[in-house]
Amino acid sequence: MPEQIVILDFGSQYTQVIARRIRECNVYSQILRFDTPAAEIEKIHPNGLILSGGPSSVYAKDAPMPDPAIFKLGIPKLGICYGLQLLAQYLGGKVEPGQKREYGKGALKVTDSFCPLFANLPEKLQVWNSHGDKLTRLPRGFSAAAVTENSKYAAIQSKDCRTFGLQFHPEVAHTPLGKEIISNFVHSVCGCGKNWTMHNYIEQAVAEIRAQVGDERVILGLSGGVDSSVAAALIHRAIGEQLTCIFVNNGVLRGREAHVVQEVFVKHFKVKLQYENASNLFLKRLKGVTNPERKRKIIGRTFIEVFERATRRAGKAKFLAQGTLYPDVIESVPIGGNPASMIKSHHNVGGLPKKMRFALLEPLKQLFKDEVRELGLELGLPREIVLRQPFPGPGLGVRIVGEVTPQRLRILREADTIVVEEMKQSGWYYKIWQSFAVLLPVRSVGVMGDERTYDFTIAVRAVESQDGMTADWVKLPYDLLERLSSRIINEVKGVNRVCFDITSKPPGTIEWE
Ligand code: XMP
Repeated sequence: MPEQIVILDFGSQYTQVIARRIRECNVYSQILRFDTPAAEIEKIHPNGLILSGGPSSVYAKDAPMPDPAIFKLGIPKLGICYGLQLLAQYLGGKVEPGQKREYGKGALKVTDSFCPLFANLPEKLQVWNSHGDKLTRLPRGFSAAAVTENSKYAAIQSKDCRTFGLQFHPEVAHTPLGKEIISNFVHSVCGCGKNWTMHNYIEQAVAEIRAQVGDERVILGLSGGVDSSVAAALIHRAIGEQLTCIFVNNGVLRGREAHVVQEVFVKHFKVKLQYENASNLFLKRLKGVTNPERKRKIIGRTFIEVFERATRRAGKAKFLAQGTLYPDVIESVPIGGNPASMIKSHHNVGGLPKKMRFALLEPLKQLFKDEVRELGLELGLPREIVLRQPFPGPGLGVRIVGEVTPQRLRILREADTIVVEEMKQSGWYYKIWQSFAVLLPVRSVGVMGDERTYDFTIAVRAVESQDGMTADWVKLPYDLLERLSSRIINEVKGVNRVCFDITSKPPGTIEWE
């Protein structure tokens, strides 16, 4: 078993962030449900155990409780927020509702300079709190290691320095030195090395793929997005010719998409790629359709039809490979409306039909998105693919408001290419979640030279987001906006006006349809 830290999930919206921080310390971590039996955890031989935060109160009737036997596992433990309260309550301390809910930034003062969690850290730290209840009496054999204005037990530790509790959240960005605290826990307390790197992972994954696939064949639906591209490169590294990728041109792709995929995968990687140009079929079916949901359905269904036909032509294969990621497979804990569960269902759109009779090969399902990107670079994929922003399955179809026609597609593609180029050039492309052009079915009057024009409008959208569930519009600099506007109007025939979308989500959505 590889060195690893197990996190028990008590429903905090930050549980996945804890796992990511640990992996950033080059230690593997996995999230298990809060009630996973201790015997099952023991079988994994983790080097440490973290109890996550959660929205409940430890004395609430339906509070999620772990298997009490976990407290007897002889490995280091760290409770965070609700996890600290659970741990303390179970070991004989006392938790009570706080006088005042502590929420937001707080100033932590380390009172025990020998506490290994705070080794090499300053005495005063900024931390992030989000809790109502608080610990009012320490369990026996524990001492305080740090305090905040509001709590004299902001960090606690057992005498043997094997069990710790933190009232604040070290995993979030608002605790700027939190990653050092987590690093101290996993390296100094749990004794983990730095073995989890994407460089090492390739070897392990290649061996696993070979073992699972044997001499069978694998089919993969390549979209050109980050996940399917990295999955393709990884599987190809493992089984070469046994992999066939199918790329469907649905007619609503961005300007260079089909070209880039062929350049990279066929020319560079020499992957067996079946290119299905079905754009005419998609556009025929989209003719005259203006309702966004109908457009989505038509594109989704036609994709499945084309893909199924393509798989039959690709010959017999036992496996269908998918770029499923770790956040899609974590069984989220439905406590108090944990948003993680909603994120999952929302993003599982545009997938392949479940009825296709393949065994699944999902070589990325242990990885977070940032790890997939790193893996892609390790495998030699270009930045253009690996650092690509998310792009919806229905593509430009939901960025042309109203009917999708070849002329409108031409206009949007040209405008979108300029947006992507300028965003990349200025570096903004890599800093934000998404940036793109939308074509509005609105014509307005303009003048160009001596001529009067009556042309379409392009809206530019740029949003910042963690997961697509909420988003803020990005305050792009005026000179960049100016370049976008003048280039689009000068270079794209049929456009005489550019607007910048200043709507956040909620109340808006990221896509216009
Ligand atoms: P909205 O527009 O719902 O978008 O705020 C949130 C995120 O999801 C992407 N998106 C989609 N992705 N198929 C997809 O694969 C879809 O039908 C779809 N609709 C929206 C969108 O680009 C954004 O990142």
